[in-house]
Amino acid sequence: MNDWQAVAAADLELLQIVRDRRAGALAVVAVHDTSLGPAHGGIRRRSYAGLRAAVADAVALATAMTWKCALAGLPSGGGKVVLLDHPDLDRAAAYRLVGQVVASLGGRFRTGPDVGTTSEDLAQVAGETSFVSTGTSGEGDLGLATARGVEAAMQALVAHLGTGWEGLRVAVQGLGSVGLALAGLLAQRGVRLLVADVDANRAAAARQRFGATVVDPDTIATAACDVFAPCALGGGLTTELAGRMRARGVCGAANNQFAEPTAAAAFAAQGITVVPDFVANAGAVIAGLTFAQDGIPARPERLAQIAATTAAVLARATAAGVPPDQVALAMAKERVAQARSPRHR
Ligand code: NAI
Repeated sequence: MNDWQAVAAADLELLQIVRDRRAGALAVVAVHDTSLGPAHGGIRRRSYAGLRAAVADAVALATAMTWKCALAGLPSGGGKVVLLDHPDLDRAAAYRLVGQVVASLGGRFRTGPDVGTTSEDLAQVAGETSFVSTGTSGEGDLGLATARGVEAAMQALVAHLGTGWEGLRVAVQGLGSVGLALAGLLAQRGVRLLVADVDANRAAAARQRFGATVVDPDTIATAACDVFAPCALGGGLTTELAGRMRARGVCGAANNQFAEPTAAAAFAAQGITVVPDFVANAGAVIAGLTFAQDGIPARPERLAQIAATTAAVLARATAAGVPPDQVALAMAKERVAQARSPRHR
């Protein structure tokens, strides 16, 4: 399936491409599904090969958000904004443009942080709309919330693998807002950490703060460890990698980790348990939504519920003899379908 076919098959509610010529800004806004409630999804700013790749990414990320919210038990759907980055971009104006589009949707879509978007960027968005989680208005550190969710998912994973935390070796790929926080939480549990980041300073910081062993970014995915935690960009789990990975489990925050549809079965065939990303990385959306609804940060116990969801997914996958991804997707789709059925309206 090529990019456009994937976009056409995604069953989107809304796809908007907006432009501010003077700012050099081009943004893609995708709302996948609002059957469970208003859509949620962050703003990703990065350089893309072209508009086609950016649209495909926005659609895939928005779709994953729908499944993530459904499995986290949230009254919320999936959306995403992708902002095409380039050296001449007027960044502040570009984020204001995104804020204006979100405002025009009147609450159907609430946005927040993602890769490439800082709290200063979100402040620009917040100048245009209140439908944004800035991470500075009281919902707490969203990267930390995501890391707590990944930690909870990993707890279920290591129980499933029969190892527990004792003597566990975890390889963390990417030490940004989630990866560094996750490394800290795992260090507190006495986990032996291997870390890698393309930014050598971030890797050095993890070595200094947590006694982590620094590994080359090109080899972290095949390092000798028990669990691989992808916390950089998605698309890293290729069919080919499955045969070379030494970890027995994968559990990280990166969105859309499988590079191609065949990869999930390849990892399962190698006996590697991959916790579906949209199960493990729901912490930020739980925290953002809790604050939007109740005006308080999400309690750690709410984030820890991700452990129970993960355990249920892994148990069902084992019983059915299928990859966890397939089970999680079926569970999420069932929840959305229930919300769509007339009985629940
Ligand atoms: P970030 O941008 O703060 O950090 C990403 C880190 O990965 C950076 O330090 C970067 O230098 C590093 N990196 C990039 N390519 C790499 C490579 N090939 N090898 C090693 N390191 C590499 O991003 P953040 O917010 O920590 O998010 C990480 C992942 O988790 C992303 O895929 C994001 O979509 C996902 N995610 C993040 C959430 C959040 O709350 N921030 C929520 C849900 C998912």
